[in-house]
Amino acid sequence: VIGFRPLAAGWPALGDHHRHLVEDGARTGAFLEAIARQVRKGDVVCELGAGTGILSVAAARAGAGRVHALEVGPIAEVARDVAFDSGLADRIVFDEPDAADVIVSECMGPLAVGGTMIEALVVLRQRILRAGGVVIPRTIRVWLAPVSSPESDEYVRFWESPRHGVDLRAAGRLAIHNLYQATFAPREVVASAALAREIDLTAGPYAPRFQSTLAFTASRAAVMHGFAGWFDVDLGAGVTLDTSPADTPTVWQQVFLPIALPAHVAAGDRIELVFGATPALARSHVIYFDWKTTIGGETFHQSTRHSYPRGVVP
Ligand SMILES: C[S@@+](CC[C@H](N)C(=O)[O-])C[C@H]1O[C@@H](n2cnc3c(N)ncnc32)[C@H](O)[C@@H]1O
Repeated sequence: VIGFRPLAAGWPALGDHHRHLVEDGARTGAFLEAIARQVRKGDVVCELGAGTGILSVAAARAGAGRVHALEVGPIAEVARDVAFDSGLADRIVFDEPDAADVIVSECMGPLAVGGTMIEALVVLRQRILRAGGVVIPRTIRVWLAPVSSPESDEYVRFWESPRHGVDLRAAGRLAIHNLYQATFAPREVVASAALAREIDLTAGPYAPRFQSTLAFTASRAAVMHGFAGWFDVDLGAGVTLDTSPADTPTVWQQVFLPIALPAHVAAGDRIELVFGATPALARSHVIYFDWKTTIGGETFHQSTRHSYPRGVVP
């Protein structure tokens, strides 16, 4: 197998981002199915974050009278051509409607709540969705569970051993405060997952800032290395998408939150976690994640705000 990666030259967004999205059959298939089941003939549909336009084309094919595809990035030009090539240039337009029957948005960032799309979606819904209208997705739930994953731990602790004879632990002090994209096997999960956040996209406002206090009971003896995080979404009409370790892998994989030191847990041990997110003051599209773990009387505080070198204000 030839590993093929785009060169770090030319426009990266197609190969780095949009191709992975379209290739992800679980993700794309779930949205296509949800659109097919919920868009009705003549509906005005608004898609927030249209990317290549694939979901807007699906909405038009499902019978929408008009689809308003909103896209801030330069990929919008591709979406325009895709609409034209699909013979839908008259029904897919690229401005915001005054009112919509359906709003669709693949708005889930890292751990779903990373990024700013959920907030943008809720604001858009409050502005344009007709009474009784449909939002796809309807709800998002974020889950966390303690994991034993030597591989993930080793990856994060790369900096703790001298490399080429140089002590690079200064880098490790930042690395331990970051989140990592990782894929976990169900057997690496050492306690039942807890619900960290539930977001109802159909009603009410959205605050990116939150904090949840969670407790887990270890189901077996293990060396715990951190937490796995993932999310599931209800896309309506019986369609769901689940990014848990037990489900079909997706572009999101799962997220690894390391703990400062691996911890031995026995079956029945209690693990406490205070997990939260706060938008950065200076640039609100950056979300800080904070996690405080207590195991056997020891507490570790970690935060992505400490993953930046001093002087870097995200
Ligand atoms: C995860 S991609 C989804 C693309 C496409 N809908 C799909 O399913 O393949 C999200 C897209 O939303 C765009 N986006 C993010 N925030 C936006 C905003 N506030 N308004 C319009 N587009 C936005 C990004 O540029 C990106 O192309």
